[in-house]
Amino acid sequence: MKVERECKIVSKEQVGDAVYMTLEVGDMIRASFRAPGQFVHIRCGEGLLLRRPISVCSCMEDEPDDLLSIVFEVRGEGTRWLAGRELGDSLDVLGLAGNGFDLKPEGRYLLVGGGIGIPPMLGCAQYTGGRATAILGGRSRDKIILEDFFREDCAKVLCATDDGSLGHHGFVDALVRRELSEDRGYDGVLACGPKPMLRNVAKVAEEFGIPCQVSMEERMGCGVGACLVCACDMADGSRKHVCKDGPVFDSREVDWDA
Ligand SMILES: Cc1cc2nc3c(=O)[nH]c(=O)nc-3n(C[C@H](O)[C@H](O)[C@H](O)COP(=O)(O)OP(=O)(O)OC[C@H]3O[C@@H](n4cnc5c(N)ncnc54)[C@H](O)[C@@H]3O)c2cc1C
Ligand code: FES
Repeated sequence: MKVERECKIVSKEQVGDAVYMTLEVGDMIRASFRAPGQFVHIRCGEGLLLRRPISVCSCMEDEPDDLLSIVFEVRGEGTRWLAGRELGDSLDVLGLAGNGFDLKPEGRYLLVGGGIGIPPMLGCAQYTGGRATAILGGRSRDKIILEDFFREDCAKVLCATDDGSLGHHGFVDALVRRELSEDRGYDGVLACGPKPMLRNVAKVAEEFGIPCQVSMEERMGCGVGACLVCACDMADGSRKHVCKDGPVFDSREVDWDA
């Protein structure tokens, strides 16, 4: 069950354009961890009414305080306020929210992260004990964050950049295609990143008949299924809440043309 905790910032560093923060979150992981891919909802500033959703990058049960790391980029007022917090400051954090990826610890998965969608895939790599392959994509080399962490926790890491400054010159879905055609042993493809990337990755996985789960990013309001701000169109014509029903969906559920 989701809990609200005052959480102390115990580490903070810059990784490329993003901020990597570790928080002491009391018993939050023990109380509410379901699977990698969940998110926390952080109150960002006194005057701002709304919390901001940030994915869990990695987390660990510990006594007396569980540890949780997040990685975020400054986009607007809320994330700017968050980036201004210092070591020892406390944050009002609600979590863990959402469903996370449906994956087996003993499974073998192809993890695909694009840009600021890279961090939650690290939790999937750690959960599956080093068996995963990670494909990390970004506009340029400096957008490929946490590569060293993925190398520690994955069997194989491949990178793609739009400008060719690191790894494959082009989009991640070309690497997904290459990997799935060379290796039929994956239990699934798990992806987080911008919607066009998710759509292309889902299409390739479907061609190969491999199950694919995607973490959708929609703007959020209440974060508890009450306001419809985060509604996502489904292939069957229904609308689901990213905050409550997601953020992770089976790729075949999503209406990619919406
Ligand atoms: C489930 C989930 C997990 C997320 N995980 C991360 C993460 O790990 N790291 C990270 O850096 N960001 C993550 N985000 C995005 C993050 O929540 C937004 O960047 C943040 O809420 C922006 O708030 P702000 O007050 O700084 O900017 P605002 O002033 O609210 O918005 C600034 C700009 O960002 C756009 N924007 C705001 N929220 C979103 C959104 N959810 N999706 C797309 N565009 C948005 C706005 O339209 C606007 O153009 C996640 C979002 C969701 C829904
Ligand atoms: S954010 Fe309000 S319903 Fe999802």
